[in-house]
Amino acid sequence: MCGIVGYVGLKEKKEILLDGLKELEYRGYDSAGIAVIENKKLSNFKAVGKLENLALKTKNYLSSGFGVAIGHTRWATHGKPTELNAHPHLGEKSFVVHNGIIENYQELKRKLQGSGVTFVSQTDTETIVHLFEYYQKQNMQPFEAFEKTVDELEGAYATLLISEVEPDTIFFAKNGSPMLVGFDDKDIYFASSDTPIIGKAKEVYYLNDGEYGYAKDGNIKLYDKNGEKTFTKQPLSKDKFTAQKDGYRFFMEKEIYEQSRVMSETMMGRINGNSIHFEELDQEFLNGIDSIKICACGTSYHSALASSYLFERLARIPCVVEIASEFRYKEPLLDKNTLFITISQSGETADTLEALKMAKRAGLKSLSICNVDNSSIVRESDKTILTRAGIEKGVASTKAFATQTMVLWMLSIYMAIHRKTISQDVLTGEINAMIHTPKALLVNDELHTKIHRLSKRYLHGHGFFFIGRDIFYPLALEGALKLKEISYLHAEGYPAGEMKHGPIALADSHLFTVALMPRTMHYEKIKSNVEELSARDATILAISPMPFDLADDFIQTRYDSHPMLEFFEMMVITQILALEISIRLGNDVDMPRNLAKSVTVE
Ligand code: M6R
Repeated sequence: MCGIVGYVGLKEKKEILLDGLKELEYRGYDSAGIAVIENKKLSNFKAVGKLENLALKTKNYLSSGFGVAIGHTRWATHGKPTELNAHPHLGEKSFVVHNGIIENYQELKRKLQGSGVTFVSQTDTETIVHLFEYYQKQNMQPFEAFEKTVDELEGAYATLLISEVEPDTIFFAKNGSPMLVGFDDKDIYFASSDTPIIGKAKEVYYLNDGEYGYAKDGNIKLYDKNGEKTFTKQPLSKDKFTAQKDGYRFFMEKEIYEQSRVMSETMMGRINGNSIHFEELDQEFLNGIDSIKICACGTSYHSALASSYLFERLARIPCVVEIASEFRYKEPLLDKNTLFITISQSGETADTLEALKMAKRAGLKSLSICNVDNSSIVRESDKTILTRAGIEKGVASTKAFATQTMVLWMLSIYMAIHRKTISQDVLTGEINAMIHTPKALLVNDELHTKIHRLSKRYLHGHGFFFIGRDIFYPLALEGALKLKEISYLHAEGYPAGEMKHGPIALADSHLFTVALMPRTMHYEKIKSNVEELSARDATILAISPMPFDLADDFIQTRYDSHPMLEFFEMMVITQILALEISIRLGNDVDMPRNLAKSVTVE
């Protein structure tokens, strides 16, 4: 994900920018750049790949004395990761960096091109700098031109702009993407999160959506739609590790809350009107494919299992899912017309990687769905779709699962279109539900507080069953895995209809059942299954949009117009339940005992 750093002051600017960008490296990026104005002279450097490449390019450049500087790490969305597409973007005399997405950039670009402006990149960002210069040339003062520019931008952005026409100033604006301003005497810093400025600035102001202004003479002028406004600085944390958690108690908690936002990144550029587009794939790649085999481990296996229902139901293509460590030694029969998909957050899981190598040796086409670019699994695969979840630090995977499931859902639709197995009406319904997914993933205080309160009832007992049917069965498996990883309590995921074939023997008041009861997927059937458990005195926590009288505890969901919206909302609830139980038990949520984030051994 992109990162921004900016600085106005007397210090050596290159080091401040490169150090700051290094702190944002963990977010993932594929190119980087900096721009500095000193003695009214603009200097600019860009490099594709790691920051070391940019450091090499700037090796002989030093900027001492007063100046303004902006830097950026870019994670490609509009246009490939090339130097031309890397930020900062240049107009004639100005540079801009930007995080987010300018939704109306094509309209603005057409208008600017009509007035003779030439664009050199494929990005939405370049529009900002040209728009600024366009207004500036109409005899507007630089800040007036910036204000007019910001007023025309639609979408999410955090942006910094510097210009030779006002060489002692950084113009800034924020709407929907994070940005903060750091202060230390006469030095002013900007960044897209705290870590680049910790140890440099003493105080901070976190910009709110709709705020913009400029930094000059050791201070900032701040505006919103109602005009100039005052603001209060606050002391900046000195602890980088705490700061990276953005105020959350644990990385896992932060990552649960991030899911709504990162899901938009996962979908960005891939939903195209009433269709799905993956620039990573072409239709030729799928020609001749008549079945799918998916291999993965742990949480990734659960997203795979959920998707097998979607591939078969929507794309009408046979789909078999295997646990990678089992697949490796079963002497599998592999058919060249099978598409071999691996799913991995880290891209380094040894069992999944070896399964992929076996499939390649057997001549199958391979596709990986992964969160880490350039990882071993990505390098080994013919094609890759990145999940764009951003770095996941909590050992218990949350946002990786959500984004994997979204990519697989989109892929099932992509294949359904390719195979002509989906009607326009169903397609419209699926796309519409996808667009609403970020809403279903939002966590509100009321929900979190409720789960916190009821979690105290679930700290003991002789075990948990998470039950669901259809896609809610893999979700039940995932809910149980989350709970056991961080609470060390025994939990099992089970298909609800299968309980009566054995596990129901365990039912008594000390058996906790978490029942996933969606309205849109076999509600009456699962209701009967839960009633059977209730009749045997099991303690029931029901998660459903429909009130359920037999529940001991009940969490009511809100998004019940489509099974996947129900799926994602229930997923968040099971994640928070695991988190709250683990916290009450005093466990290390982010680094549970015996577990590693990346399992590179067999
Ligand atoms: O990096 P991967 O997705 O390949 O990892 C697979 C599993 O090790 C992983 O999902 C593990 O189960 C997580 N700790 C689950 O929270």
